Amino acid sequence: GDAPHVEKQPWSFAGPFGQFDKAQLQRGFQVYQEVCSSCHGLSLVAFRNLAEEGGPGFSVDEVKALAAEYSIEDGPDDEGEMFERDGKPFDKFPSPFANEQAARASNNGAYPPDLSLMAKARAVTRGFPWFVLDIATQYQENGPDYLYGLLTGYHEAPEGVEVPEGQYYNTGFIAGKTLAMAPPLSDELVEYSDGSPMTTDQYARDVSAFLMWAAEPHLEARKRIGFGVMAFLILFASLLYFTKRKIWSNVD
Ligand code: HEM
Repeated sequence: GDAPHVEKQPWSFAGPFGQFDKAQLQRGFQVYQEVCSSCHGLSLVAFRNLAEEGGPGFSVDEVKALAAEYSIEDGPDDEGEMFERDGKPFDKFPSPFANEQAARASNNGAYPPDLSLMAKARAVTRGFPWFVLDIATQYQENGPDYLYGLLTGYHEAPEGVEVPEGQYYNTGFIAGKTLAMAPPLSDELVEYSDGSPMTTDQYARDVSAFLMWAAEPHLEARKRIGFGVMAFLILFASLLYFTKRKIWSNVD
């Protein structure tokens, strides 16, 4: 159909042994926090998740300090009133808008979707029978490939393409030639402290990797278990084979 061509990117977490790059996840979180979070929620991720095995690898103290920077609505209290308190590690990221209507009201009628599962929601597979191959080979990287393509897909609209008011031309968007999100990234926008390039390209890679982790926080454990299962099956199959040979060895 009209879906954009999604170019494969070299992710550290690709393939059966791929792992997240912790420094990249931390940078990607910084991009989410400083740029995307003003419009997009991350409502399924709790602060404490940032300190869990297989993630960005923040320390528990760092997470406590981070959570405390946020103000969380809680309640009702004994008087039946809602109240604000400092965030705790068990809180989820607060969304930038109270609800979809408020979000649309602030974005010219467009809705910036929650990004918690976006890396999976945009993992597009082809139709039958190719989806089998897609799932086996690139399915899990297809989502961040799309996000990277979207974030780096803003270009001058070619001659003859009408770009409506409040819309932006983007070659990576899945549902048309334009979308309501203005280019969120630009060079030098986020100050990195680890010497990584401060470019749109690097920000896009880092935040896409971070959103992959957000959507698939147990990716590393799943790969480890998957490997163990395959090793066991191969061993077990060969034992069965030799057992079968022995049992049937005296049958002509
Ligand atoms: C849509 C990511 C920053 C406003 C989207 C979509 C993604 C995304 C994945 C969905 C695209 C699709 O449907 O395939 C990001 C990331 C950001 C970011 C990773 C930070 C780097 C922002 C900011 C704003 C914003 C700062 C507001 C100023 C929107 C809006 C839409 C949208 C209004 C809906 C567009 C439409 O459906 O036409 N964004 N975004 N985004 N985003 Fe962002």
